[in-house]
Amino acid sequence: MDGRARLRYAGGASGENGMIGRLNHVAIAVPDLEAAAALYRGALGAKVGAPQPEPAHGVTVIFIELPNTKIELLHPLGETSPIAGFLAKNPAGGIHHICYEVDDILAARDRLKASGARVLGDGEPKIGAHGKPVLFLHPKDFQGALVELEQA
Ligand code: CO
Repeated sequence: MDGRARLRYAGGASGENGMIGRLNHVAIAVPDLEAAAALYRGALGAKVGAPQPEPAHGVTVIFIELPNTKIELLHPLGETSPIAGFLAKNPAGGIHHICYEVDDILAARDRLKASGARVLGDGEPKIGAHGKPVLFLHPKDFQGALVELEQA
């Protein structure tokens, strides 16, 4: 597999048949969760939640509520955290994924797979940090951005 985009939409739909909805959150991997929370709370004056361990996902999360979306600060939890490698490559932290809401996650998955998009893992939705089913799509299929879909 080379680095070029593999997924190219060539269908006839207009883009008005609305599969993705709101931007639910932008997730930022951070090397120091408390320092990042303090920065958002103090320097940016944001409404910052408490650290929330998510052992099933190998992360500790802090949610920041913005008027129109959320920021999710992610820090590795446990030995096999999926973001440990990301932080090894990006020691200062960085944007890790963006999450779009969909009304029907299974229909969205099937449509994306039919378009040739790669769904990560076993392809079955898992319960995400907000208690709703989520899936991740391969970043190479979406311009280098890891995309999370969350059932609205
Ligand atoms: Co997320």
